[in-house]
Amino acid sequence: MGRSLLGIEDLDRAGIERILDRAVAFQPHGGPTFAKVNTCTGMMVVNAFFENSTRTRSSFEIAAHRLGADTLSITAAGSSVAKGESLVDTLNTLSAMRPSVIVMRHQASGAPHFLARHLSTPIVNAGDGTHEHPTQALLDARTILDRCGRLEGLRVVIIGDILHSRVARSNIFLLSKFGASVALCGPPALLPREMAAMAAGVEIEYDMRRAVRGADVIMMLRVQLERIHEPPMQAGEYFRFYGLRQEHVDLAHPDVIVMHPGPLNRGREISSEVADSQRSMILNQVENGVPVRMAVLERVLLP
Ligand code: CP
Repeated sequence: MGRSLLGIEDLDRAGIERILDRAVAFQPHGGPTFAKVNTCTGMMVVNAFFENSTRTRSSFEIAAHRLGADTLSITAAGSSVAKGESLVDTLNTLSAMRPSVIVMRHQASGAPHFLARHLSTPIVNAGDGTHEHPTQALLDARTILDRCGRLEGLRVVIIGDILHSRVARSNIFLLSKFGASVALCGPPALLPREMAAMAAGVEIEYDMRRAVRGADVIMMLRVQLERIHEPPMQAGEYFRFYGLRQEHVDLAHPDVIVMHPGPLNRGREISSEVADSQRSMILNQVENGVPVRMAVLERVLLP
C-alpha cells in the first residue's frame, strides 16, 4: 500500500506527530491565507468523492493548490459510475491517467483499503463508510493542540451517533495513542457497549450530564440518518437527551472546548447558542483542514 494514508489505526504516534507538526508551518498565523509553498509543483491530485462533501473535498483542493499541485475533482453523480461502471474500473481508469495521488471518499467501509492493494497510485482515505476519516481526526488533534497545548491527560467526551461515525473511530484511535481519556456517550441504539473495546480505557456513559462533567473537550457528532433505516428517536426527543446545550457546557471544565466535524444539525445534536459561542472550535476545525491536508499530501507525495 506504499505511501497511502488509509487510517489512524495503522499510523504510529511518531508518524502522526510529523503530520501535526508540519501542519503548523502551513497555518495562517494571523495572515490572510495559508502558506503557498509549491513543494508539489507538477504533481496531480485527483479528488474522487463518491459521497457528498463540503469541507473535506474543498480543503483537499485548496491544500493541493497551496502545494503547487494540479487537481481534478470527480463525483459519483458526474462520472460514469452513474452509468453503472464499477468502482474498480473507475479507479483503474483514473489511475491510468497517472495522477500522483487519489483522494477518495466512499460509502463502503474498506473501499480505499481494497483499492490501495490493487492500484499503484497512492490513496488517501477521505472517509470510508462507518470505518475511518483519518484526516478529520488529524485536524481535530491539531485544533485541540492549538487550544489546549496537549492531548495527554485530557478528558475528551464524544457524544452522538458513535455507531455510524468514522470520525469517532479515527478520533478514538488517535486520542488513545496520545494518552487522552476518551468517554463515549449516546443513545444505546447508537452506542453498543462493545465499542468500549476499540481502545484501552475507553468509557461508555449513556447519561449526558454525567458524561460532560469535567470534560476538557466535548466533541459532538451528527446523527448519520443516511446510514440508519429507522432513527431511534425523533429530532426533538434526541435533542432533549443528547443535544448539547449551555447547561451541559456549564458542567464541563471551565476552559472546555466544543467541537463538531460538521455538517451540523442545529437543534438536533447542538444548540445554536453553543455552536456559535466562544467555546466553539467548529470553524477552527474547518480552518485546520487545509494545513493538515497539506501536510498529509506532502507526506504521500514527497519521497
Ligand atoms: N467533516 C466532514 O467530513 O465534512 P464534509 O462531509 O463536508 O466533508
